[in-house]
Amino acid sequence: MHSLDDISCLAAPQVQHAVVLLGRGGAGAASRQSLIALAEALRPRLPPGCKLVAAFVDKAAPSLPEALQQCMPARSIIVLPVFAPDEPALLRWLHKLAMRWRAAQAQPDIQIRFADTLLNSSGLPPILLQQIAQAAQAPDVAELAGERWQNDPDAWSQVPEHQHHALVCTGPRCTALGALAVWQSLGDAVQARQKLRSRLRLLQTSCQYPCNHGPLAIVYPEGVWYGRLVADNVAQVIETHVLARQVCPEHHVHGPVVLPPGI
Ligand code: FES
Repeated sequence: MHSLDDISCLAAPQVQHAVVLLGRGGAGAASRQSLIALAEALRPRLPPGCKLVAAFVDKAAPSLPEALQQCMPARSIIVLPVFAPDEPALLRWLHKLAMRWRAAQAQPDIQIRFADTLLNSSGLPPILLQQIAQAAQAPDVAELAGERWQNDPDAWSQVPEHQHHALVCTGPRCTALGALAVWQSLGDAVQARQKLRSRLRLLQTSCQYPCNHGPLAIVYPEGVWYGRLVADNVAQVIETHVLARQVCPEHHVHGPVVLPPGI
């Protein structure tokens, strides 16, 4: 276990330091909470003046570039990956993403260092043993499962009436390009408009591959790929597709440009 003394270098007054606690997101706002709670627990243990920001590789905001920006005016930033499983290719890309963010700064003389990933940490096995010891004293699962544990709700057997699905990519590259703002904006619009809500189901997906077009969404059943989406007009693009049956040429990437009459 490292003590505050071990990280006293982060308190060096001549340099402003920051730490980015980097996790992976999940569906729904609740999935962010555990990482934010971990950040809250860690924050008071850092030296005074050392900023701490929780960030997400995918499916949640802030993204790594947004978090790095929030660290400003720090001149030394440590990125602490706390996600599992380890994916070397993903980590390499995160390094490149950090370098691109740094290159875009007016004063790019910022040190960015990545800590070892959680699964590579030699400190993890003792923590897991401690967890096992604590769990041995925890209540049996029967005390926590609640009522009607034998089956899930009947409603989960019903197929919804939507004729369209919009698959919004919230993979790492699209997240770094602003996919969460796009997702939020589109979700708000669908909630607000009954006609759209009854016809369109929104789904988040992992990487759909052509990341350079991100933020990206595919609308089915027609299979129209839209790219470079922005929060300001994504609702209009998708609504025009679903209700007016027209493809927005500015954001069209792939698939039919003329749609059959409404379904
Ligand atoms: S991350 Fe969205 S297409 Fe790859």
